[in-house]
Amino acid sequence: MNANDPNRVIIFDTTLRDGEQSPGASMNTAEKLRLAKQLEKLGVDVIEAGFPAASDGDFEAVAAIAKALKKVQVTGLARASHRDIDRAWEAVKHAAHPRIHTFIATSDIHLKYKLKMSREEVVAAAVEAVRHAKSYTDNVEFSAEDGSRSDRDFLCQVYEAAIAAGATTINLPDTVGYAVPDEFADMVRYIRENTPNIDQAVFSVHCHNDLGLATANTIAAIQAGARQAEVTINGIGERAGNTSLEEIVMALHTRQNHMQLTCGINTENIYASSRLVSMITGIMVQPNKAIVGANAFAHEAGIHQDGILKNPMTYEIMRPETIGLSHNKLVLGKHSGRHALHDHLKELGYELSEEELNIVFKQFKELADKKKHIVDEDLEVLVTEEFLRTADIFQLQYLHVTAGTTVLPMASLELKIHDRPVRAAGYGNGPIDAAFNTIAKLTGTQSELLRFTVSALSGGTDAQGEVTVRLRENGLVALGKGADPDIITASAKAYINGLNRLEYLKANPIKDRQGL
Ligand code: KIV
Ligand code: ZN
Repeated sequence: MNANDPNRVIIFDTTLRDGEQSPGASMNTAEKLRLAKQLEKLGVDVIEAGFPAASDGDFEAVAAIAKALKKVQVTGLARASHRDIDRAWEAVKHAAHPRIHTFIATSDIHLKYKLKMSREEVVAAAVEAVRHAKSYTDNVEFSAEDGSRSDRDFLCQVYEAAIAAGATTINLPDTVGYAVPDEFADMVRYIRENTPNIDQAVFSVHCHNDLGLATANTIAAIQAGARQAEVTINGIGERAGNTSLEEIVMALHTRQNHMQLTCGINTENIYASSRLVSMITGIMVQPNKAIVGANAFAHEAGIHQDGILKNPMTYEIMRPETIGLSHNKLVLGKHSGRHALHDHLKELGYELSEEELNIVFKQFKELADKKKHIVDEDLEVLVTEEFLRTADIFQLQYLHVTAGTTVLPMASLELKIHDRPVRAAGYGNGPIDAAFNTIAKLTGTQSELLRFTVSALSGGTDAQGEVTVRLRENGLVALGKGADPDIITASAKAYINGLNRLEYLKANPIKDRQGL
């Protein structure tokens, strides 16, 4: 596929930046790096790896991703200030294809109440920011924050000045999810027609989903001539989220006959990417979510099932295999060997060293003793729990609970805290409450449990239970996730994961996200 094809849509993924702004969705550097590798495999064109000036953790993660990835463009977000832009460049400069993404708000509301700047001052700040970014790299994106609520002629003026200063991509964000499709498309057309040098830059759009219109607005903008879509996996992001990558990609793919547009995404990697994001962030995908929800390809009505058996095209506009969902999910069992495990993990995108494979193989055998059929989701959880949480401060060693109709629920458990074993026992209203109370006592934490959900990782009564918790401590919010055939153990793992994420947030405070 030709990257200069005028009908090719550039996919700019911001799961690691805007996606991470979802409440509780913070990720550590190892998790971000793993996800960035998956995004490269998925075939995105640009990865927005973070906001380097916001925190040291963000900076480190962006730099690590920039160093590791060779094919994809890597960008960092920066406000229109020298300090932010210097920091962004320091982080992305190691990338094979670096980009700096700088922004300033353009709507009258933001100018008056947030920036306290005049329109002339905003144009001057945008030009200065782009020039400064351009002194580092040719690849500069400029965003007009709250663009969809900005005066159209002023937008044209800002974009013209930004392009003249060297911006190679200009981005129109619907920051607060206010736009509706025909209006947004009209805005794109107006800017394209009234910005004299617009053909010297790629036109990008970035939509939020407050009215549930992010995908519709992005598609409408693309049909009106935008050629970069800013998206996140599973649509995660600030408030109601961002445009979801899988929806845009599959709309382009499935309705190619109508839109005649392409993109560089390897669609068979969509499902694995969705699972990874959900596993790392702890944000579950709603069952009826388009493309990647558990029910997206499930046919309940008899009349539909009958039709599908006769010809899938009767009720299926996409084949599940296209997004990497195989019908035959049973993969391995108790008697499967190391070699089969290695090959299967490779297919799932996990290239493990000998030593890592030994560890996962041991865990796999233990799981296979409890559970007959090991499916992809089980393997993903094993690898994620083992290798993406290496920096964990709290680690579960063992858990024993007693519960039932005639006993007071009690938990006794051992944790390692900074590698030092500690033990305690405690009571609760039920076995999970007892386990949580004891963990809180041992870790000396005082988090509040805001949400607790359990679901099955796959089908069957022997499926692993997957637990998600949402915790709050001193104003910090974190999600935690855990899986195990025993849901009390899964709950303890999720709780401990949430506490580790809170510790990470305490150690890596967001210094500055003002202006976002
Ligand atoms: O929503 C928004 O306006 C943004 C910009 C910084 C691109 O995320
Ligand atoms: Zn945004």
